[in-house]
Amino acid sequence: MSRVALRSAILAASGTLHEAGVASPGVDAEELAAHLLGVSRTRLGMTPLVESAWVEQYNALVAKRAERIPLQYLLGSVQFGRATIEVGPGVFIPRPETESLVVWGLAAIAGLKNPVVIDLCAGSGAIALAISAARPDARVIAVERSLAALAWARRNVGGHVDRGGTPVELRGGDIADERLLSDLDAKADLVTANPPYVPDGTAVEPEVSGFDPAEAVFGGADGLAVIKPLISIAAGLLKVGGALAIEHDDTHGESVPALLRARRVLTDVVEHPDLTGRPRFVTATRIRMTQAAAGGTGA
Ligand SMILES: C[S@@+](CC[C@H](N)C(=O)[O-])C[C@H]1O[C@@H](n2cnc3c(N)ncnc32)[C@H](O)[C@@H]1O
Repeated sequence: MSRVALRSAILAASGTLHEAGVASPGVDAEELAAHLLGVSRTRLGMTPLVESAWVEQYNALVAKRAERIPLQYLLGSVQFGRATIEVGPGVFIPRPETESLVVWGLAAIAGLKNPVVIDLCAGSGAIALAISAARPDARVIAVERSLAALAWARRNVGGHVDRGGTPVELRGGDIADERLLSDLDAKADLVTANPPYVPDGTAVEPEVSGFDPAEAVFGGADGLAVIKPLISIAAGLLKVGGALAIEHDDTHGESVPALLRARRVLTDVVEHPDLTGRPRFVTATRIRMTQAAAGGTGA
């Protein structure tokens, strides 16, 4: 059987993906090659030559990516912080920029023993599992409405436990359902959320429009339909001194911090950029009701 240089197969694939409009053709071509060889991307140099049968298989995978099937579907899983997250139809693919929110959240609970963490709009369970993987002593509760997403979250929690992780508690339902979280009122040291926030009608990449569930992406005309009620819900779940982190659209760098500042029980409202420097998440701290009344910081 004839053998060909892996580098030329990857270069050809990169060209195909570039023509198909894929945003990172070179990286994707390498990721797919590494996946098929069962090695990490950094180890591709260890395999200079591949069989032509391998190249056929590789090209078939590249053709799927050229149809704009998300890379993560083809790889089957995503590394998110210390967690391995399986993804596929029906669930939002965790994005690397959300890891900044997790890093902030972990720093916020760094000095606490057995912290209670609640992740709202949990999707695949990525944020909850990344926190649990880094803080096995934490009690982590994840809330998700979509049955399809919950099934993926269940699978990911199972995988996390199989790898020796602490179980994450999954609650299926709408975050606005008062019965769903009433036992956790004022119990959380940290509340995290990456809710749907893209304003309706915004143009998105084919990987998003064709594969991410619309209910995971779009948040009403201004993108704030879920974020607005979520702020009240999160404020009620936080204990005094507890921390809140909410991801938002890059057009929300002023509006979402303003919504948080308008809550009397929240203070230290800070806006944070993501890895690309765009406004991406906002954080705040819960204060005591009496302090809030004395400070008179808003409604
Ligand atoms: C952007 S995805 C985020 C998933 C995950 N947190 C992540 O970062 O990868 C938003 C998720 O919120 C869920 N969702 C939307 N509205 C909700 C609601 N009212 N209650 C509970 N979950 C909701 C969607 O089904 C979707 O899975």
